[in-house]
Amino acid sequence: MRGTNKELIAVIGATGQQGGAVVRALQGSRQSKVRALSRNPEKHRELADEVVKADLNRAESLRAAFEGAHGVFLVTNFWEQGTDELAEATTAIRAAQDAGVSHLIWSTLPDVDAISGGKFHVAHFTGKAKVDRIVAEAGFPSHTFVIAPFYYQNLLGALAPQKQAGGSTGWALPLDPDVRCLHMGDIRELGNIVAGAFARPDVVGNGEYLPLVGDFMSFNEIVDTLNRQGHTFSFEHVPKEAFAGAAEVTETFHYFQAYTYLGSDSHDRIALANEIAGRQPTKFAPWALSNFPAHGGEGLKGKSQ
Ligand SMILES: NC(=O)c1ccc[n+]([C@@H]2O[C@H](COP(=O)([O-])OP(=O)(O)OC[C@H]3O[C@@H](n4cnc5c(N)ncnc54)[C@H](OP(=O)(O)O)[C@@H]3O)[C@@H](O)[C@H]2O)c1
Repeated sequence: MRGTNKELIAVIGATGQQGGAVVRALQGSRQSKVRALSRNPEKHRELADEVVKADLNRAESLRAAFEGAHGVFLVTNFWEQGTDELAEATTAIRAAQDAGVSHLIWSTLPDVDAISGGKFHVAHFTGKAKVDRIVAEAGFPSHTFVIAPFYYQNLLGALAPQKQAGGSTGWALPLDPDVRCLHMGDIRELGNIVAGAFARPDVVGNGEYLPLVGDFMSFNEIVDTLNRQGHTFSFEHVPKEAFAGAAEVTETFHYFQAYTYLGSDSHDRIALANEIAGRQPTKFAPWALSNFPAHGGEGLKGKSQ
């Protein structure tokens, strides 16, 4: 950090899981002044040094949101109805350019179309990957990509264990549970990587990719880990026709099964991310021990993801 004044970082999605993690890590490291951005700043006054209105669908709101910011963390929410991730991200990138932002960090995901040669279409992955080039070509003095994993928290939310027809509690998913394909992590730890990246543009500000990966597992390994901790969860591999969830979820699982979540050997990128974060991310077993409700999780109701 240069000079005595702390540099200001503006965080999109500050009320959510990714942006919230970034706000907390930046505040914890005391390296920056934090401007939390939300469409409803009046509801979240306590969130950070500054809480300012920003709507990715309203370019004019981003002018004030990014003014004076050294860095911007950008995430878009595919799952919110009506979201056009490419349009929202492009609007934010242009606004950050206009505001003279020095370092933009974009939360991306792998390009499934490119990885699978067009076999799989996973819009919430490829749609984010398509933004990477726009970030790279925008000419920021520094830019970095972070890759969020399959959140452990999904297993308490959208993918919480459910009561099954046979009476057990667990999962019925269109995924081969023997295939080790899930790059997973505690999403609260994404902030360590992002804060580290803002502090080290010399190392990761040239378009480096930093995935957060706490563990790499098959679904059977997830279930075995939980059951060793006293749960009695079941898993059934169902054909896609029998899966009650969204088509996007089925396609995503089929992609994971064929190519893994990250889609390529990411050993070096994961090592760099951990170095930049200054710590090893939490593995699934200890996370589950502290976070998974006892008694098999019956009755858990998911927040949609
Ligand atoms: N679940 C997973 O395993 C996983 C893995 C990798 C990537 N992801 C990706 O993560 C993204 C969601 O991030 P999250 O988990 O942090 O979401 P989240 O906890 O549901 O929070 C969504 C955030 O987005 C903000 N937001 C939504 N629309 C906005 C808009 N038009 N303008 C400004 N802010 C807006 C919300 O802010 P306000 O409501 O305060 O305005 C909120 O802070 C999705 O795109 C998903 O594909 C998820």
